Formats: sequence, structure tokens, C-alpha cells
Amino acid sequence: MNTGRFITVEGIDGAGKSSHLEFLASAIRARGAGVVVTREPGGTPLGEKLRALALNDPMEGTTEALVMFAARREHLVRVIEPALGRGDWVLSDRFSDATYAYQCGGRGLPASVFLTLERLVHPDRQPDATFLFDLDPAIAYERQRAQSRDPDRFEREAADFFRCVREAYLERAGSSGGRVHVVDASGSLEGVRDRLAQAFARAFP
Ligand SMILES: Nc1ncnc2c1ncn2[C@@H]1O[C@H](COP(=O)(O)OP(=O)(O)OP(=O)(O)O)[C@@H](O)[C@H]1O
Ligand SMILES: [Mg+2]
Repeated sequence: MNTGRFITVEGIDGAGKSSHLEFLASAIRARGAGVVVTREPGGTPLGEKLRALALNDPMEGTTEALVMFAARREHLVRVIEPALGRGDWVLSDRFSDATYAYQCGGRGLPASVFLTLERLVHPDRQPDATFLFDLDPAIAYERQRAQSRDPDRFEREAADFFRCVREAYLERAGSSGGRVHVVDASGSLEGVRDRLAQAFARAFP
């Protein structure tokens, strides 16, 4: 029986999404399912090129949203839908909720434009469950500062930007009809993992 599920993780830069991907993948494998771990923007060779542009080249706000959705279309058609069709689960580090949060919440893109693009690019697909790592941007900033790599164009944004992104994420979670599970991402890695495990068990009993 083909019962692939589409799972996404979301949250501001440095909230801890990537740190818990392998844990989620193991939880899925423990159910006997195959899992494809992927990310956005990116997930395909062309998508990774678009990611490099989106993260490094300055561009106008609508252009930015179009680049994100262009990469997403490739990702959906070449990776996500084929995997779900095989019965695998797909675990993606970000998807359209990130575009809503960053481009609408952060950059001021009208929600109507977002909704039009979302309907165009994935009219019949939404994640089955989304885990939103919710964290105070000041803590996320401190966590990132401990990393040695150079920040990208988004990571260099000011605290106000991330406060707006966080609010937009929470607003979208509130209107998601239970799809988006908010996970308190503060505190230790172990504490976050325990709350994530509980949220996962609630989402997939
Ligand atoms: N609970 C935690 N306590 C302390 N440090 C943490 C915690 N979770 C993650 N970190 C550290 O914070 C940094 C950012 O975490 P991570 O890369 O998982 O965030 P992210 O949400 O994937 O960020 P990005 O959106 O930039 O990819 C990493 O150095 C990670 O080791
Ligand atoms: Mg990450």
C-alpha cells in the first residue's frame, strides 16, 4: 500500500530545523517507510543553482518569490511527487510556508501574490504535517553566531526582519487547520527533540 507522507520543517534561520532532520528521518524509518530527505530552496540540480542566486544575489521582492517558486516547481515535479508516488515519505527542510513567512512577512509581498503562485505551482499538494521550530530571533542569532561560516543574504537581515518572519509563521500555523505543529525550539537540543517527538506522535498516531 502506497502511503507516502509529505513532511516539512520550518522556522527562522538558526531555529534548529536541520539539527533535527536526521532524528525525524529515523522516526519515519522506524515505521518501516522509506524517506527522502531534501531541502528548499534547492532539492534538484537546477534548484540548487536557484538557491545560490536567491541566497546571494540582491533582487526585487517579487523576483525573489518567483525564484523560490521556480525552484519549488522543479523540486515538486522531479523529487517530491515521484517519491510520494513510490510510497516513500518526503522530509523537506522548508517549503511554501517559508515563502509566506519570509517574502510576505519579512519583505511585504502581498499575500494575494503568494496565494496565486502557490495555486499555480502546487494546486493539489500541501504537506501532510509541518513542524514549525518557534524561537526568539535573539536566541537564533546567538546560535548562528557560534557557527563559523559566512551568513547569507537572509541571515544578514536585522532582528526586526526575523520578528516579522516569526509572526507570519505563527499566523500561518494558526490558520493551517492543524497541519502546522508549533514546537518550542528554545532550550537544549534534547528538550527540543523530546517536544518534536511528541508533536510527531500527535501528527502520525
Ligand atoms: N537547542 C539548541 N541549543 C543550542 N544550540 C542549538 C540548538 N539547536 C541547534 N543549535 C545550533 O544552532 C545552530 C543553528 O541550528 P540549525 O542549523 O539546526 O538551524 P536551522 O534552523 O537549520 O538554520 P538555517 O535556517 O540557517 O538552516 C547550529 O550551530 C546548531 O548546532
Ligand atoms: Mg538549516
